[in-house]
Amino acid sequence: MKALKPRTADAAAGYLAVRAHTETLAAALSPEDQCVQSMADASPAKWHRAHTTWFFEQFCLVPHAAGYRPFDADFSYLFNSYYDAVGARHPRPQRGLLTRPSAGAVGEYRAHVDAAMADFLPHASAAARALVTLGLQHEQQHQELLATDIVHAFWQSPLLPAAIPGWTEPAGAAGPTRWKDFQGGVAAIGAASMAGKDGHDFAFDNERPRHRLLLAPYRLASRLVRNGDYLDFIEAGGYRTPSLWMSEGFAQAQAEGWQAPLYWRERDGAWHQFGPGGLAALDPAAPVRHVSWYEADAFARWSGARLPTEAELEAACGDIAEFDSHVWQWTASAYLPYPGFRAAPGAVGEYNGKFMINQMVLRGGSAVTPPGHARPSYRNFFHPDRRWQFSGLRLAQDIA
Ligand SMILES: [Fe+2]
Repeated sequence: MKALKPRTADAAAGYLAVRAHTETLAAALSPEDQCVQSMADASPAKWHRAHTTWFFEQFCLVPHAAGYRPFDADFSYLFNSYYDAVGARHPRPQRGLLTRPSAGAVGEYRAHVDAAMADFLPHASAAARALVTLGLQHEQQHQELLATDIVHAFWQSPLLPAAIPGWTEPAGAAGPTRWKDFQGGVAAIGAASMAGKDGHDFAFDNERPRHRLLLAPYRLASRLVRNGDYLDFIEAGGYRTPSLWMSEGFAQAQAEGWQAPLYWRERDGAWHQFGPGGLAALDPAAPVRHVSWYEADAFARWSGARLPTEAELEAACGDIAEFDSHVWQWTASAYLPYPGFRAAPGAVGEYNGKFMINQMVLRGGSAVTPPGHARPSYRNFFHPDRRWQFSGLRLAQDIA
């Protein structure tokens, strides 16, 4: 628990650094950009800025900072995401209709809460400091969502603007893909405590408890599946071959006309990809991204392979390159509670536990994950048809 009791100056600096990064991302966006909601899954940038602020107000300041007065009594209704224990909230699909408060007023809200947090942090109890840490990890998750959501919004624009000016696409690595064998056996998976493991100073509740399980011998590809590999799948008719697909996935691919990953566009006879920097020529050596679990699973089957389980990836961490690389890696694992999982008491117990159904786990990290946020035991999760995250895959095989 050492990292949950940092010196006051470190705690204040850490808080301000995370908060500042959100504002850096938002600074490239106009007030109009910040209000757009392109689909129900995505939230406006302004909403992300306000909701992350509300999290500190609701879970740190209101219960723990004596005399704190909320900035605006209506904001809990507007910026509560999904916490039923806190109360009623604005419908998620209508977040883009919140023209007020303005982007500027949200900035004032952030400043109000930051000032109160600066006063509060030196006196915070251990329990309150743990909530501050959770709030900072939460804000980092929303930084990634802010980036992925605005990229999706800008994809709707004929102008195809850059969401992150100056963004450079991570270069793909040359060279062949190799298989690396793992003997399996009993593996210990998960984080031992809230303080994480292997030098990491935090873990979410969904990474606990650490537990043992049995892995059969398996092999993993040395690198992630690349755009060039995926082009071969497309050209081989992968999207038109139902035997490669889960039934639900093939039906959705047909209904929505999927013929390539999200954000791919053919222009002048060549594939391009839209990303945080705008539209650019597709790099065949870069990891494929913006594929759903269904596409990743179909690609793996077409390749004579399969998706790895989350335990296989975690047990292999340190022995495979690109673990914390450019894209999240879909796994064969359903997002379920680990044996003995207990949600935290109170409203923050809703953070992860109530979503452990109908979603698939992703491991690793992406080019828009804030540096230092993810770790080997980190469990990301999305529904199997979602494509707007930076989601790709690594192949696995059984060793007969
Ligand atoms: Fe949130």
